[in-house]
Amino acid sequence: MIPTHIGIIMDGNGRWAQQRGLARTQGHIEGLKAGKRLAKAASDMGIPYVTFYVFSTENWKRTADEVGFIMGLVRRYLRSEFNFSRENNIRVRYTGDLSGLPSDVAQDITDTCMESVGFTGTQIVLAINYGGKDEIVRSVRRALDKGHEISGETISIHLDNPDIPDPDLIIRTGGEKRMSNFLLWESAYAEFYFSEKLWPDWTADDLSVAIADFQKRERRFGGRGKLGS
Ligand code: IPE
Ligand code: IPE
Ligand code: MG
Repeated sequence: MIPTHIGIIMDGNGRWAQQRGLARTQGHIEGLKAGKRLAKAASDMGIPYVTFYVFSTENWKRTADEVGFIMGLVRRYLRSEFNFSRENNIRVRYTGDLSGLPSDVAQDITDTCMESVGFTGTQIVLAINYGGKDEIVRSVRRALDKGHEISGETISIHLDNPDIPDPDLIIRTGGEKRMSNFLLWESAYAEFYFSEKLWPDWTADDLSVAIADFQKRERRFGGRGKLGS
């Protein structure tokens, strides 16, 4: 079975650039191209949902120059890729704290999500100013505001996109083996795939290899599985 939802921690843009004697910003430009390439690949493979980790709640610690550059890239991408979405029937969605983003970036995100709402193919979720802890806190606040008791169920249904199934597979590129605050609640039973390859070098073939690896796993969800009968 192909995974229903894949989360991708796109890491290694800076190192990719440094290895070539280029500015880190050049790595982000190539990273954006890789994002588009992999969004197309996932759409061609018929993957229903892919969440791309674009910018974390911790990435504000970087220099103002780098943060500004990434925000600029996000805006340029959002404004220019409507045709890409339409041709591939891709719906763009958002997860993260929109209120913590510059208002022009937030507006472009809202507009892009609205414009593609009718596209029925792959749903691409952009995680921008996203933190797993922050999403859980915001969910609990929403639930409390509505007067709900706090339970696993009420937290799940007040997350940013409660209709989207939990990720089956989380991919991290760039060699580090950590979550870096990505989809903490939703990935409770996700399978993990770590790749040494830096994000700008990722291709459709790498995604196929990751999915083939996922397909060999036995998911037990705490039960006894095939060996346990
Ligand atoms: C990932 O690449 C992109 C973002 C976090 C925005 P990095 O910029 O973290 O690249 P490395 O890890 O420094 O190589
Ligand atoms: C994770 O990468 C965040 C994104 C890919 C957006 P980082 O480069 O920020 O993660 P750390 O700092 O190495 O954990
Ligand atoms: Mg990094």
